[in-house]
Amino acid sequence: MMFQSNSRVVVLTGAGISAESGIRTFRANDGVWENHRIEDVATPFAWERDPKLVWEFYQGRRRQLLDVVPNSAHDALVLLENYLDEFLLITQNVDDLHSRAGSKKLIHIHGELRKLRCETCGQVIEAMNDEHLQNQYVECTQCTDKKLRPHIVWFHEMPFQMNEIYDAVGKCDVFIAIGTSGHVYPAAGLLSVAKDVGAYCIGINLDPPENVSLFDEFHQGLAGELVPALISKWLNE
Ligand code: APR
Repeated sequence: MMFQSNSRVVVLTGAGISAESGIRTFRANDGVWENHRIEDVATPFAWERDPKLVWEFYQGRRRQLLDVVPNSAHDALVLLENYLDEFLLITQNVDDLHSRAGSKKLIHIHGELRKLRCETCGQVIEAMNDEHLQNQYVECTQCTDKKLRPHIVWFHEMPFQMNEIYDAVGKCDVFIAIGTSGHVYPAAGLLSVAKDVGAYCIGINLDPPENVSLFDEFHQGLAGELVPALISKWLNE
């Protein structure tokens, strides 16, 4: 596999890339997180039925961002981005580790823990100060809504920026998926879009994912080891 600086490269990351930073993946414990099934706290119905449960669950995850740092896989993707003219990083992760590592051309397809959103007026705010990270709700500063929601794409909601994503994947030369189990659509379907347009597809994951047969190259192991090693090899070839 040869990369040129004018290769159009799209990278899709999932929970596996942040695992070595200490953030748990979703499906590691049969989809159970802090005694909740992820589907029970990550849907708009759960938010309607029991907002306190959902809010406190996400406040825990938001506070965790203060205790974690990007790892060598996040860092290596910045080197790749800097080398290439056309690059897009699509992350399913709601943590902020890619942007803290320095990634710029980045889409958070499933939203961002750092932000809160008002369902009444649509305002989205960066909300990582002390007063935003407590267990009480955060009120909207622009309207009368008393409870902002996490700026997260829950199950049954529409992922963000899909047009831009399909546009980039539909014309990429190389597609790289890192640390994702390939269970959750539409993100999981991007590999077959890339395949359909003839892109060279590379997978890096601890376990072979669902759609492993679609990859031209699959590397099994830890993202923190494989991603820097492969990127340094590609950039030096
Ligand atoms: N390095 C590489 N891969 C790893 C590592 C690691 N250190 N640790 C775990 N993995 C792999 C696992 O083998 C697994 O296949 O990462 C994958 C993580 O899969 P999931 O937990 O299913 O995470 P992801 O694919 O990102 O989930 C997609 O599901 O719950 C929703 O919206 C949520 O964005 C999330 C989406």
